[in-house]
Amino acid sequence: MKNMNENYHIPVLYNEVLDNLITNKDGIYIDCTLGGGGHSEGILKSISEMGKLISIDQDENAINFSKKRLEKYQSKWSVYKNNFENLDVPLYMGGIDKVDGILMDIGVSSEQLDDAYRGFSYKYDSRLDMRMDQNNSLSAYDVVNNYSEEQLSKIIFEYGEERHARKIAKLICFERKKNKIETTLQLVAIIKRAYTERSSKHPAKKTFQAIRMEVNRELEVLEIAIKKGVDLLKPGGRIAVITFHSLEDRLVKNLFRDLASTCNCPPGLPICVCGVIPKIKLITKKPIIPQDEELKNNNRAHSSKLRIAERI
Ligand SMILES: C[S@@+](CC[C@H](N)C(=O)[O-])C[C@H]1O[C@@H](n2cnc3c(N)ncnc32)[C@H](O)[C@@H]1O
Repeated sequence: MKNMNENYHIPVLYNEVLDNLITNKDGIYIDCTLGGGGHSEGILKSISEMGKLISIDQDENAINFSKKRLEKYQSKWSVYKNNFENLDVPLYMGGIDKVDGILMDIGVSSEQLDDAYRGFSYKYDSRLDMRMDQNNSLSAYDVVNNYSEEQLSKIIFEYGEERHARKIAKLICFERKKNKIETTLQLVAIIKRAYTERSSKHPAKKTFQAIRMEVNRELEVLEIAIKKGVDLLKPGGRIAVITFHSLEDRLVKNLFRDLASTCNCPPGLPICVCGVIPKIKLITKKPIIPQDEELKNNNRAHSSKLRIAERI
């Protein structure tokens, strides 16, 4: 495990998150994506001794690292290893009904990406894995070796927005008939064969992203968690979501829009018959993106977008 002086993960949009999320210094907050604990530490520093933070991560390594980093905040901090689709569970366990703020900083941490053994990166050779929760049964190995050609093509196209999806899926299925595809670099070599043209981005980037999203059910979990999260907020409480991918940002944007929509009855009706009651109001009509200074210092902040909504 890394020591505290090494960078596990640099939190993105740090000030923007804290400025918008903390509306009550004595309040209760949930950080759904603890990672290296950067945002969690920011929240803990911002709240009073009366305040409380509950942090969640599904990755044992992240939990162990951050437990050491944040041990001095024990009196107002608790941490749970769980999928954040279950963000209501630690609240019920702690007898808490509603909270003042919820943060989701979606995706993988730099530590997960750079850990050669986790199989997230197309740069290192390792067994195909990509599970954020090492107890999950589905891994990248299963997706690559057991999904049908149609299933592979669909996820690579939809989650990776990869225009060579069909060709990549076909090549994977052709190769795995001879021998199982065991490692990341074997998969990279197959993907490269689908690319005849030169590309400024690594040819495996989109396919790896798609497989990772499938293995960890990333879009499905995000939707469930935002809906649950909004219902767990006190009036005036806020939900902040950081995404790194256009598909995720679109999902957040559309979901926030739906949850913020007001009565759509035809004008002139004496009473509302549609029953649509907005649950939230949008704090960010357009997403907040990093300033140039942040982009200079943290390459991984590129493409990050922060959207915030407030419970009505
Ligand atoms: C981008 S990092 C968060 C970094 C963190 N904000 C910080 O300041 O270090 C995302 C973290 O969320 C965790 N994660 C992603 N999806 C999750 C999920 N569905 N449930 C629980 N944890 C999840 C990952 O394991 C990873 O540690």
